[in-house]
Amino acid sequence: MNFLTVSDLGEVGLQRLLDLGAKVKADPGLYRTALAGKSIGLFFMKQSLRTWVSCDIAAIQLGMHPISIRNEQTGFGTRETPEDVGQVLDRYLDALGMRVFDHADLVRTASVMRAPVINLLSDLEHPCQAIADVMTIAENVPLGGVNVAFVGDGNNVCRSLALAVQSSGGRMRIASPSGYEPHGLPGEVLMTSDPREAVAGADVVYTDVWASMGQEDEAELRRRHFARFRVDEDLFALAGDDAIFLHCLPAHRGEEVSESMLEHPRSRVFDQAENRLHSFKAILLHLLG
Ligand code: CP
Ligand code: NVA
Repeated sequence: MNFLTVSDLGEVGLQRLLDLGAKVKADPGLYRTALAGKSIGLFFMKQSLRTWVSCDIAAIQLGMHPISIRNEQTGFGTRETPEDVGQVLDRYLDALGMRVFDHADLVRTASVMRAPVINLLSDLEHPCQAIADVMTIAENVPLGGVNVAFVGDGNNVCRSLALAVQSSGGRMRIASPSGYEPHGLPGEVLMTSDPREAVAGADVVYTDVWASMGQEDEAELRRRHFARFRVDEDLFALAGDDAIFLHCLPAHRGEEVSESMLEHPRSRVFDQAENRLHSFKAILLHLLG
């Protein structure tokens, strides 16, 4: 089974990951030899801090041998095709995590591999992030009926979050400028161009950068289009009394988020970053265990 999108899991799979994630967080030594002798490639065409380090450590803590692969070393898609890379790596690895620009590259690579391929972020989705996000929400608010407000770009993080929140019984509200809404989300999502409407009474307020990796050329234009979509203390004050603030990080302080919002007493962004480690262990155990 691949994990290219949150939709690959189904409700039962998602619940299993949340249960496993909580279990390994409570007892990090659990399963320390569960995947002994197995290898995972961690392939990056873009920068990473959290994903790279947490996935590497998660694999080691389950007894695996991770190997980081940077695109400069391999020439994925230029030196050889995704299909040829996939067929070769399939002879060496038990799993392959990939961070790519174009989601189609993930699909092409996975199409020729027996080993599971895990999306470590593409232009379409960031499903591993969404598992950590929902795990963090569950630590603070009951998931059933939770109201999650995403303010900003309808990007990879937003799409995966929406799928995971809906699959776990919550409701999504998304506030984006016109032209930046996420497309093709199933189910009922409240879409608005008014951040205050999305945040009013919400249990979770979430934002992400206005220009994702690969969109650096649009950064200036986006700063203008998104100027009303910064999450600051005033906007957050409209959320429910026990609401939490989340951000997948890295953050651009002073742009999508105010300078001090990450340090707000209701911010859980560093728990969320920590949960990338526990939830990736759950993902590995689910796919390979
Ligand atoms: N949140 C996240 O995926 O961070 P990195 O880009 O640093 O991996
Ligand atoms: N939307 C951001 C998320 C980074 C973790 C990006 O794709 O760059």
